[in-house]
Amino acid sequence: MKDSYGRDIRYMRLSITDRCNLRCFYCMPEGICPAEQQDVLSYEELMRICRVAVSLGITRFKVTGGEPLVRPGCMEFMQELKKMPGVEQVTLTTNGLLLEPLIPELLKAGIDGVNISLDTPDPEHYQQITGHDGEKVRKVKHSIMTCAAAGLKTKVNAVILSSCREGWTELAKLAEKGIDVRFIELMPIGTGACEEAPGYREVLEILRQQYPDLQPVREVRGNGPAEYWGCPSLKGRIGFIHAVSERFCESCNRVRITCTGSLKPCLCYEQGTELKGMLREGCSEEALKKTMEEAIREKPLAHCFDRQEGISERRTMNQIGG
Ligand code: 5AD
Ligand code: SF4
Repeated sequence: MKDSYGRDIRYMRLSITDRCNLRCFYCMPEGICPAEQQDVLSYEELMRICRVAVSLGITRFKVTGGEPLVRPGCMEFMQELKKMPGVEQVTLTTNGLLLEPLIPELLKAGIDGVNISLDTPDPEHYQQITGHDGEKVRKVKHSIMTCAAAGLKTKVNAVILSSCREGWTELAKLAEKGIDVRFIELMPIGTGACEEAPGYREVLEILRQQYPDLQPVREVRGNGPAEYWGCPSLKGRIGFIHAVSERFCESCNRVRITCTGSLKPCLCYEQGTELKGMLREGCSEEALKKTMEEAIREKPLAHCFDRQEGISERRTMNQIGG
C-alpha cells in the first residue's frame, strides 16, 4: 500500500524476540531487561499480523530480534510464513551463532536469504563489541561460509565502528567469494547514540586501497536502502547503508513490528500503534486491518538522526528489531 507521501510499503521487519545470546554495546548492553514473556506476541498473533499485512500489499518479511534463533519455534514460524499465500519473500537476520545446524532446514523451507551480522573479523574486537568470548567470531565466520556454500543467499551486515577499522578490508574480502558485505552507519538509537562513529565514506576510502576500481553499480539487490559498489575482482557487492550521512527516507518501503506488538513506522520515533491489546481482545480481521492501514499511512516523512533532540525513540535496538 502507499503511505501518505506516496511511498510503496511492501516490506515488514518482524522482531520475534528482544532476547539475544550476545550483548553488542550499541544494541543490547548489559542491564537491559528482556520483555516479560506474556508481553511478547505469540507466533499465532504474529501470523495474524502477517496475514493482514499481506492483504495491505506487504509481501516481503524479515524475521529479526534480538536474535531470532534463540526463540524456540523460530524455524517452524518461518516455514509457515513462507507458505502463506501472497508472501513472496521471507528472510532472516541473525548473529550467526546458532545458524549452522539450521541451514538445511532453511534451504528446505525456501527461505530467501540470510543476513549475518558481523562487525569485525578480529576476536579481540568482537569481544569488546559483543561482551562475549571473542573466539565465537570463528563460529560466525564459519557459518557465513557454510551458508553461502549451501546456496542460501548470504549477506554480511557490519555496523561501522571506529574500533573495527582494521578489519574492514578482511570483511570486504568475503565479497570475493560472492557474498554481499554491507557496511551500516551506526544509528543514534538506544546506546548507539552514545558513540561517535565513522561515516560510510571512511570505509570506502579504506576499501579503495585494496580495490581501487570499486565503482557504484546500479542494481536493485534486496529490499533495502543499501547502495552497492563492485569491481571485477569481487563476485559479490559492497553495500553501504548510510542512513545517517545521507538519508534515504524518500524511498523507505518498510515498517516494523516490535516483539511486544507495536507497529513502528519509523526507527527514529517512539510513536507506534499497539496491536497486542486489540489482538488479545479478539478484534476482527477488519478492525486489525483498519488500524494497521492507518498506522502505515501515517508513516513519518523522514528521520531526524541529525537532531538528537528530535529523536523520540527511547527503546534499544534489540527491542525494536534493527
Ligand atoms: N545502528 C545500526 N545498526 C544497528 N544494529 C543494531 N543496532 C544498530 C544501530 N544503532 C544492527 C545489528 C544487525 C542489525 C539487525 O541491526 O548489528 O546487523
Ligand atoms: Fe544481539 Fe544483534 Fe543486538 Fe548484537 S546487534 S546484541 S547480536 S541483536
